[in-house]
Amino acid sequence: MISKIDWQEFEKFSFECREKYIPVVREQTAKLLCDLVQKNAPQNILELGTAVGYSGLLMLLSSPKSKLKTVDINSQLCDKAKQTFLKYNVADRAEIFCSDILSYLEAETQQFDFIFLDGPKGQYIKYLPYLKRLIKSGGIIFCDDVLYFGMVMDDSKVIHKKITIVRNLREFISKCQQDADFETELLDMEDGVLILRKK
Ligand SMILES: C[S@@+](CC[C@H](N)C(=O)[O-])C[C@H]1O[C@@H](n2cnc3c(N)ncnc32)[C@H](O)[C@@H]1O
Repeated sequence: MISKIDWQEFEKFSFECREKYIPVVREQTAKLLCDLVQKNAPQNILELGTAVGYSGLLMLLSSPKSKLKTVDINSQLCDKAKQTFLKYNVADRAEIFCSDILSYLEAETQQFDFIFLDGPKGQYIKYLPYLKRLIKSGGIIFCDDVLYFGMVMDDSKVIHKKITIVRNLREFISKCQQDADFETELLDMEDGVLILRKK
C-alpha cells in the first residue's frame, strides 16, 4: 500500500478533473502506476501528458527522491499543474515543459528510469523510437489507454472516426511485443495498460 497517498482525497481530485472534462489516469491504473514507481524508486521520471499534474503528483508522492519532467502542449493545463505541484510541496522535484511531445522527444537527450506515456493515443507509434532511445536499460515505460475503450481488441466496438487511432495503437502494441529489447505486459484493466521493461 502507498502510505503517503490519501486515495479518498485523490478520488475527489480525479472527480473534479473529470467534471471539467480533463481526463486523468483512472483509479486502478493510478494505483498500479504508484505501486511500480514506489517499488522501483526511479531517479528520473518522464511523463508525456501532464494535464493538471494529477498523475505527476501521484508519482512524486510515491517515490520521495524521484525527479519528474512532464510535458503538455496546453499552457493553461501546464499552469494548473504548476499550482498542483506547489500545493503539495513537490514543485522542487518537478519540471514542466509546455511543448508538443514529439518536438520535446526529438530534442531530449537525458535518459530516464521510468516513462509514463499518457499523451495523444494515435501518436504513440511515432513516439516509440524516441522512447526506446530515452529509457535506460532496466527502465520501465508505462503506457496508458492502449486498448482505447475496448476498440483495440474488439472490431465490433470500433467507432469509424476513431479507426486511425485504433490502427495506430494496434501497430504500437504489436511493435512493442515483437521488439526483443523489451519485456512486455499487456493488461486488460480499465482502458488498457502496456508495461514495457527495457532489457
Ligand atoms: C490523458 S491527459 C493526461 C492526464 C495526466 N497524465 C493525468 O493522469 O493526470 C493527455 C494530455 O495530453 C496532452 N496532449 C495532447 N496532445 C499533445 C501533444 N501533441 N503534445 C503534448 N501534449 C499533448 C493534453 O493536453 C492532455 O493534457
